[in-house]
Amino acid sequence: MFELTGRIAFVSGAGQSVGEGIAKVLARQGASVIVNDLHAERAEKVAAGIVEEGNRAVAAPFDVTDFDATRDGIRAAEAELGGHVDILVNNAGVAEGRVIRPFRELEPEDWRAPIDLNIFGALNCIKVVIDAMCDTGFGRVIQISSGSARTGQNINQTMYATGKSGIEGFIRHLAAETGRYGVTANIVALGHQKNLEEKMSPEMIEAILETIPIGRLGDPIEVGAFCAYLASNEAAGMTGQTLDFNGGSQTR
Ligand SMILES: NC(=O)c1ccc[n+]([C@@H]2O[C@H](COP(=O)([O-])OP(=O)(O)OC[C@H]3O[C@@H](n4cnc5c(N)ncnc54)[C@H](O)[C@@H]3O)[C@@H](O)[C@H]2O)c1
Repeated sequence: MFELTGRIAFVSGAGQSVGEGIAKVLARQGASVIVNDLHAERAEKVAAGIVEEGNRAVAAPFDVTDFDATRDGIRAAEAELGGHVDILVNNAGVAEGRVIRPFRELEPEDWRAPIDLNIFGALNCIKVVIDAMCDTGFGRVIQISSGSARTGQNINQTMYATGKSGIEGFIRHLAAETGRYGVTANIVALGHQKNLEEKMSPEMIEAILETIPIGRLGDPIEVGAFCAYLASNEAAGMTGQTLDFNGGSQTR
């Protein structure tokens, strides 16, 4: 069940946190994993950790918002692994250049970074891998999104939500176009994850925990396990869906 042996997976922004968890679990299920990150040392560390566990991974550091770098980086990793990407996880979504302020305090130049990464970064990766998936009759596109895409929140994340909402719409249409070729495309809308403990005060974390029925933050390995299911042969009938993975939070 949920065996990925023989598959090649590409995970963007896999140098830490959620993406690292996804990359590790896909490798544990047997996939060869291309570990992407903007920061080479992060990608290399995660890939080395996977190899240490006895599984297969290569580091592929590049910026997914740059189409040429994405095409060249994925092609080079595919050549190294001797196949094409069967499983794409668009995980990179927290843009380094983002400005976290209310919309009224943003300038037009502040709008772009989260939209570039969440929309164009994802489109670049999909464009590079989708033909081989359709031609061979198997493919899995997994888009990591957020509850922020579907509800209004007063947390200075208007542009992040714009990027996430935009790519969610695209993925539903992609699923409709590629389903007949054996290529599924789904969205995993995450709730708050463990790494927020590094970014927020204990009081803020406490307030968040009150909104999460399971009483704890999300675990990247559990997100990875869900992605392993979506990537598997057994998930062939699941496509075009937005799946909340948020500990039961109703507030998203
Ligand atoms: N952490 C949460 O609470 C949470 C909640 C909801 C959704 N999400 C989503 O989960 C995904 C992962 O979030 P995270 O918290 O693990 O992020 P993170 O910032 O901890 O890690 C993301 C990684 O992506 C890399 N990255 C950034 N821009 C890149 C680019 N242009 N090209 C390649 N790599 C790039 C970063 O270097 C970083 O290592 C994101 O899509 C995010 O929106 C996270």
